[in-house]
Amino acid sequence: MSLIDDLQWRYATKKMNGAKVPQEKLDYILEAARLAPSSSGLQPYKIIVISDKALLEKIKGIAFNQSQIADCSHLLVWAAWDGYSDARISNVFNATMDERGLPHDTMDNYKSVILNMYEPKGQDWQAHHAAKQSYISFAMAIAAAAEQKVDATPMEGFVPEQLDELLQLNGTGYKSTVILPLGYREAANDWLVNMKKVRTPKADFITEMTTADAAQTDGAPVTLNLETIVKK
Ligand SMILES: Cc1cc2nc3c(=O)[nH]c(=O)nc-3n(C[C@H](O)[C@H](O)[C@H](O)COP(=O)(O)O)c2cc1C
Repeated sequence: MSLIDDLQWRYATKKMNGAKVPQEKLDYILEAARLAPSSSGLQPYKIIVISDKALLEKIKGIAFNQSQIADCSHLLVWAAWDGYSDARISNVFNATMDERGLPHDTMDNYKSVILNMYEPKGQDWQAHHAAKQSYISFAMAIAAAAEQKVDATPMEGFVPEQLDELLQLNGTGYKSTVILPLGYREAANDWLVNMKKVRTPKADFITEMTTADAAQTDGAPVTLNLETIVKK
């Protein structure tokens, strides 16, 4: 099966049957999520895995009673940084340099560039930026689940403030962004299972452009030269 076949197979499962996803499949999906790219490699998010039935029932209550949350095997919750700071960025860059056997100050100039960009934008912008990164990981998990023939329902339909409170995220520097129940479809009771997959037609979705289509400005190109920013 190709990735496209897997993506055709998957759908936002509305009814799950409570069956368990084997640990090796769960691990595979989590590894795909961990390997997602992120802006500057910061991975400003983590994943919380929940299979405790009593906790899942509570989460269902703050997710508009969507049944998949109680009937899934595991619920993945992405929680993203609530802002950027020198300390947070340094932690990631130092760990990266340690793994690569490079001095910690290798990325100092680059760190200044991104902090100078992010800090004036304020904490709301920063939390939003971090949340966007978490969605890339989320998408990788959705695709990996499809490859493993594990059903998954991407979900924003929950009250993040209430989930943060329930999972005791307040004060940790993380905020929940998006959730993904993993499990198996109960086809007989799922109204969506046999519905045609509908997407924006290719002609409307994809636009090819050339210089002739672009704004005719004489602004000089801005170059971010990593060769000079990152010490060697
Ligand atoms: C970020 C995001 C949030 C979503 N939230 C919900 C949700 O709370 N509940 C739900 O049943 N489906 C939810 N969906 C599923 C979408 O409605 C679904 O992916 C879309 O209609 C396309 O259908 P398909 O995934 O079956 O191909 C969400 C999807 C995404 C990507």
